[in-house]
Amino acid sequence: MIGAGLSLEQAPPFEATGRFFLSVPIFIIMAGLILVFKDLFLVRSDPSIVAFIHLFTLGVFTMVMFGAIGQMLPVLAGVSIPNTLMVSRLSHTFLIAGTLLFVYGFLSTMTPLISLISGMFLLTSFFLVLGTSLYALINTQKFSPTVKAIFTAMIAGLFTSFLGVWLLTSYAGKYSEVHATIMSIHMVWGIFGFAGVLIIGVSFKIIPMFYVAPEFKTFCTKWVVPLIVIGLILWSVFSFFLPELKWLALLVIATFFFAFSVTVIKKLNQGRRPISDVTIWYWKFAGVNLFIGMLVWIIYEFMSLNLDVYLAVCIGGGFILSILTGMLYKIVPFLVWFHLNAKGHFEIPTMREMISAKIAKIQFVFHVLSLILVLGALSFPYLIQLAGLAFIISGILMMVNLLKAVRIYLKYKDIDPNVVFKTKEP
Ligand code: HEM
Repeated sequence: MIGAGLSLEQAPPFEATGRFFLSVPIFIIMAGLILVFKDLFLVRSDPSIVAFIHLFTLGVFTMVMFGAIGQMLPVLAGVSIPNTLMVSRLSHTFLIAGTLLFVYGFLSTMTPLISLISGMFLLTSFFLVLGTSLYALINTQKFSPTVKAIFTAMIAGLFTSFLGVWLLTSYAGKYSEVHATIMSIHMVWGIFGFAGVLIIGVSFKIIPMFYVAPEFKTFCTKWVVPLIVIGLILWSVFSFFLPELKWLALLVIATFFFAFSVTVIKKLNQGRRPISDVTIWYWKFAGVNLFIGMLVWIIYEFMSLNLDVYLAVCIGGGFILSILTGMLYKIVPFLVWFHLNAKGHFEIPTMREMISAKIAKIQFVFHVLSLILVLGALSFPYLIQLAGLAFIISGILMMVNLLKAVRIYLKYKDIDPNVVFKTKEP
C-alpha cells in the first residue's frame, strides 16, 4: 500500500492536516443552507452566487487542497514544513474567518471594510500554507511528477488568491474597467491551474497506489502539466491583448483535461480494486463530468451561449467536488491508520472499516441528486430549495462518516499500545 519513494517519517501530525479535511462538510452544509433560505437566482449578476461559489472554491476545494499539500508534500518530497502545526492552525483559522466574512459580504452588502478584512485574512492563509511549502521545497532532491504538479498548483493558487483580492478591491471603491478580464483569468487559474493541476498531480500517485491500477505513461506525467500551464499563460495574455484568440488557449487547456478524463476512467477500469469501492464511483463520475464540462466550455466560448450553470455544475460540482470527496474517503482513514500504526497500535480497525461504505454510497446518491436538481432549477426554479436540501444531507452524511474515522483516532491516540496488548492477554 505504501509505495516506494515515500518519506513517512516526515509526515505532519494528524492534528495539522485533519482540521482542513474535517471542515469540508460544514461548508457543504452552509452552501445547501444558502440555496434553501436565500432567494437565489441562477445568474452571475446575483452577488449571492459569488458567495455560494466561494463556499465551495474556498471552504471546500482550498480546504482539501491545503490539507493535501500539507500532508503529501513532506511525504513525497521528503521535506519538513517549518512549524507545521502552528502554520496549519493559523492558516486554517484565517481561511475560515476570511471565507465566512467574504460570504457574509456577498450575501448582505460588500462594504469596503469587509472586503479589506476578508481579503487580508484569505491572502494571509494562502501565503502561510503555500509560502511555507514553497520555501520547504527549495531543498528537495525528490522532484517527482507529483511534486512538480503540486509545486505548479501552489504557484497557481498564489496567483489566484492575489487576483481574487485584487477583484475584492473593486468593492472597496476602486472598480476597474478590466474587472471582467481579471475575473476570467482568476476563474481559469483557480479552477484549472490550482484545483485541476493539483488533482492531476495527486492522481499520478493515488490512482496506482489506492486502486492498484497501471502507472501513468511518461508523456502524461512529464508533459501534461507544463502544457496546461502554457494554455493558462496564453489565456491570460490573450484575455488582455488578443481576446479574439482566447479560443486557442481554451483548446490547449481543454485538450489535456479531455485526455486526463479519458485516462482516469481507463486506468480505473484496469485497476484491481473491487468495483464496490464507492470512491471509484466518485472518480469515474468526475471523469465523465470533466469530459462533458470541457465540451460545454468549448460550446460556451464558440457559440456564446449562456451555459454558466452547466459549466459550474459539471466542472465545479461534477469534477472537482466529486474527486475531492473520493480523495477524502481515502486520505482520512489512511491518516488515522498510519498515525495509530506509527504510535505502535496494530490491533485497530482496518482502513475499510473506518468509513461506512453504506453511508458513503448514500452520500454519493445525494451528491449526484444535488447537481441534477441545480440543473433542473434552470427550468423549474422551485427545485433550487430541494437541491439545497440534497447538499445539506450530503454534507451531514460526509461529516458522520469522517467523524467515524476520527473517533477511532481519538479513542486510541493517548493509549499506550502495550497496555492495550496486555489487556488482551489471557
Ligand atoms: C483569496 C482567495 C479568493 C478571493 C479573495 C476571491 C475573490 C473573488 C471575487 C471578488 C470574485 C468576483 C466577484 C464579482 O465581482 O462578481 C471572484 C470570482 C470568482 N472566483 Fe474567486 N476568489 C478567491 C479564490 C478563488 C479560488 C481558489 C477559486 C477556484 C478554485 C475561485 C473561483 C472563482 C470563480 C469561479 C469566480 C466567478 C464567480 C462568478 O461567475 O460569479 N476563487 N473571486
